[in-house]
Amino acid sequence: MYMFSKSLEERCNRILRDMEGSLTARDRVGIQDFVLLDAYTSESAVLDNLRKRFNENLIYTYIGTLLVSVNPYKELGIYTKKQMDIYMGVNFFELPPHIYALADNVYRTMLTETNNHFILISGESGAGKTEASKKILQFYAVSCPSTKLLDNVRDRLLLSNPVLEAFGNAKTLKNDNSSRFGKYMDIQFDHMGGAVGGHILSYLLEKSRVVHQNHGERSFHIFYQLVEGGEEDLLRWLGLERNCQRYSYLVQVGEGECAKVSSVNDKSDWKTVRKALSVIEFSESNIESLFAIIASVLHLGNVTFVADSQGYATLNNSPEIHWLSKLLGIPAQVIQVGLTHRKIEARSEEVLSPFTVDQAVYAKDALAKAIYGRTFTWLVNELNESLANKDSSRKTVIGLLDIYGFEVFSVNSFEQFCINYCNEKLQQLFIQLTLKSEQEEYEMEGIEWESVPYFNNKIICDLVEEKFKGIISVLDEECLRPGEATDMTFLEKLEEKMGGHPHFVTHKLADQKTRKTLERGDFRLLHYAGEVTYSVVGFLDKNNDLLYRNIKEVMRQSKNAIVKHCFPSTEPDSKKRPETVATQFKSSLVGLTEILMSKEPWYVRCMKPNEGKQPGLFDDVLVRHQVKYLGLMEHLRVRRAGFAYRRRYEIFLQRYKPLCPDTWPNWKGTAAEGVECLVKHLGYKPDEYKMGRTKIFIRHPRTLFATEDAFEVCKHELATRIQAKYKGYRVKGDYIRQRQAATKIETCWRGMKARREREKRAWAVKVIKKFIKGFMTRNQPACVDNTEYLAFVRQNYLTRLKENLPKTVVDKNTWLTPPPIMQEASQMLRKLYTRHMVRRYVQGIMTERKAQLQIKGLTSSIFKGTKENYPHSVGIPFVDTRISEEDIHIKVYQMIRQERIKYSVPVVKYDRNGFRPRFRQLIYTGSAAYLVEEAKIKQRVEFNNLKGVSVSTLSDNFLILHVQCEDIKQKGDLVLQCDYLFEALTKLCLVANKHNFIKVVQGSVKFDIQPGREGFVDFKSGQETMIYRAKNGHLMVESTRTKSRAMIQN
Ligand SMILES: Nc1ncnc2c1ncn2[C@@H]1O[C@H](COP(=O)(O)OP(=O)(O)O)[C@@H](O)[C@H]1O
Ligand SMILES: [Mg+2]
Repeated sequence: MYMFSKSLEERCNRILRDMEGSLTARDRVGIQDFVLLDAYTSESAVLDNLRKRFNENLIYTYIGTLLVSVNPYKELGIYTKKQMDIYMGVNFFELPPHIYALADNVYRTMLTETNNHFILISGESGAGKTEASKKILQFYAVSCPSTKLLDNVRDRLLLSNPVLEAFGNAKTLKNDNSSRFGKYMDIQFDHMGGAVGGHILSYLLEKSRVVHQNHGERSFHIFYQLVEGGEEDLLRWLGLERNCQRYSYLVQVGEGECAKVSSVNDKSDWKTVRKALSVIEFSESNIESLFAIIASVLHLGNVTFVADSQGYATLNNSPEIHWLSKLLGIPAQVIQVGLTHRKIEARSEEVLSPFTVDQAVYAKDALAKAIYGRTFTWLVNELNESLANKDSSRKTVIGLLDIYGFEVFSVNSFEQFCINYCNEKLQQLFIQLTLKSEQEEYEMEGIEWESVPYFNNKIICDLVEEKFKGIISVLDEECLRPGEATDMTFLEKLEEKMGGHPHFVTHKLADQKTRKTLERGDFRLLHYAGEVTYSVVGFLDKNNDLLYRNIKEVMRQSKNAIVKHCFPSTEPDSKKRPETVATQFKSSLVGLTEILMSKEPWYVRCMKPNEGKQPGLFDDVLVRHQVKYLGLMEHLRVRRAGFAYRRRYEIFLQRYKPLCPDTWPNWKGTAAEGVECLVKHLGYKPDEYKMGRTKIFIRHPRTLFATEDAFEVCKHELATRIQAKYKGYRVKGDYIRQRQAATKIETCWRGMKARREREKRAWAVKVIKKFIKGFMTRNQPACVDNTEYLAFVRQNYLTRLKENLPKTVVDKNTWLTPPPIMQEASQMLRKLYTRHMVRRYVQGIMTERKAQLQIKGLTSSIFKGTKENYPHSVGIPFVDTRISEEDIHIKVYQMIRQERIKYSVPVVKYDRNGFRPRFRQLIYTGSAAYLVEEAKIKQRVEFNNLKGVSVSTLSDNFLILHVQCEDIKQKGDLVLQCDYLFEALTKLCLVANKHNFIKVVQGSVKFDIQPGREGFVDFKSGQETMIYRAKNGHLMVESTRTKSRAMIQN
């Protein structure tokens, strides 16, 4: 239907379903809004609908935004916290009608439009006005934002109620808890919607109730609460007994007992009031004074007068006077005189004139009423003091007007006259605010209007209040004029002045038929709400509300703080008459009207279903009557004919412009054009709205709600957008700051790194320079320039040396060439290291090897550097023997065994003559060397006879054993060739224990063939090993040159 999102459309549909869906079930629950009633002009249809709903316990019904409430006279369980939650922040028409819905709607309208509102709660006495106002207050107490401070205000707002009700409510025939004063209460809210304060205005307390109640009624609750619930101590202090029957002000004349109220629990109410008083921060002394006053009123009621012989009233020194004196802090004598006399001016002096008993009773009652009335005013002021919001910032308010409803008793007096006049005024206000203003507005806005006929009660208001002409004027005139004025003369004056007024009738003025229904002392007003007959009895007195001057003076002496406050010495001179009650009331209503006219009105119309306070009973006649005088029909007609909602173009546009791209964010043209554009965009149908001169009129609430809902959604979107923009802005700022920070850090870091680098380079340059300088001066004596360099060189050399040390003892080549300055150190180190290695080596060798090495050492000492093939032999280990014992022929073995064989080796023996080679075994024993051939010992050479041994310098294996020969038969020297030459010779040295007998000979060796005959062996190096007999008869031994000789020698 509109361009709203689907969910919204669904929601709209749901609202309609909820509202109009109930149409389908209308037989059972009726309809929730009379505006939707087909036969909206029919009183019966309205009544039927009310009845249907009432029977289903549906006590609330709307007429547009007006709430109609029918008193159920039973608990319905619809005022729970859960219910409050349900109604909080929900559009008016979305849920079944409820007082909470109205309260919530008022509250939210106040917040969004920042303006003031009031809720007018009207209806007959007992229709549920006070209950409704309490429900509204409770709803705000729960739904408003709360803080500790606000909670305090909230508690006071809530608790001011029981206090006010205790002092201002009473049981009447119509209502067990009837408000006997009018109450207007402002609740002040701050811009956040928190309740921050309150103010109460009270109107015309029904003081007469203090001294007199009709049959079946009671005085104000507080009296019963105090007597029933007051603590023993308190009662004793106040001089009270716990028995209401004891107090004549609480007992109806002629009955001797008080009315019973089953629905009121005075005892528990007492506790509530007591607690409330302290929460509202009444001081203990004030509370005491307050109860002293209540007790005083009761005592005063029990004061009786006795006529003396002259008929004047006298007081016996009764206990009541004693208590009065104590509680009010006034000497008993003074009270006594005050109650029985009055001051009159005779010429220029004042004299005390005694009262008759009747006069005294009258004065006493007047005093009781005055004390109570003034105390009530004081109480309201105190409450206001406690509720006052001290903060001066701007507030919006919601006013709650719970004022006495239209009242019709069997006998109606001055109070009913005032109350009903007040209701006329409120009706007038209602008319002005809605009906009339509605019509006028349509005309003003140039919108077609089908006029709604309604009864304007201005005529009745005028009848009562018009200056010089109205009933109040006549009454005042009668009260003030000199001479004998009575209630009856007042009535006559009325008849004189009002005669012929369509709304005024008296016995005298009435026609035949009506006259029967009127007493002579009655006058009847045709109120907008119906006829009421007033008895003029007491009108003058009540209007005068006279309190004798001297009794006021008596009160002024009181030590009771509240009484003292209520009877100030600055009171206007009593000679000048104070304003009459009716006139005071009239002006207070003018004030109230002004207060209300400046605010947006909301209405709750309360009705009672029957006169008997019965649940479930729906009295058609009674309800029909109320429907009529509450103006429901007129209101309904206006609603139906008119438009549910209107707003100035500017305001409407301002609120809803985000809903249309053309009007958002700013509309350039006039507001009216903007609204036109907006509603076109929203898809309003032509009959759903009208464009006035300054305002748009929307016919159905649902149209507005759909718009409002769309706005609600759009608001969130807007908020999100603004939020996003703002967040973006913030984040961007953050980012820029972070980036700047990063750059800064980077710059600093780079700077630092560069500085370090520079330092490093400078250091390096210095080091290198030093190094070079050190290098250049390395050979000079140690000085500043070269110490470091040299130290480095030293260290470097030592480090490298450590890694390149020779691995073995024999490794003579590996040694790092030292730099010149380390020359000496190097040598020393080398020596040290060699020694160290040798030591290690030596420590590491086994005994056997040691022995072997010792032998090898011997070999080395003999042959090293002398015989060419010696180096070859170094690596070949020596063995114990080369021929095992088994390989020695057994015969030989047996022959030489005793000498012990030490060593044996195969050799080649060259004959001394002819040099023929022969294989032999050479065996050493402890004493000789044997040359053995198989089983034969060829030659035995005693070591003693061994002169020496010759070997060549070359690499052959020849050895020549030179033998001592004295005997010619003896064989000569031995020329042998042995593969194990060095081993065999070394062993020989050891065995023979001859160390220096080996000669290494160059060239040729001379030997003895036999004593006296010499032979020669010549040695030379050749291409290959060759042994032969040379031409000169020498044995020529040619041997190959050992290549590695030089190397090995090293
Ligand atoms: N909404 C309600 N639910 C239940 N009972 C109610 C309701 N409204 C009123 N009553 C009953 O009706 C009585 C009179 O109501 P009250 O508000 O004092 O009337 P009013 O102020 O109009 O004279 C209450 O004491 C209570 O028992
Ligand atoms: Mg009330």
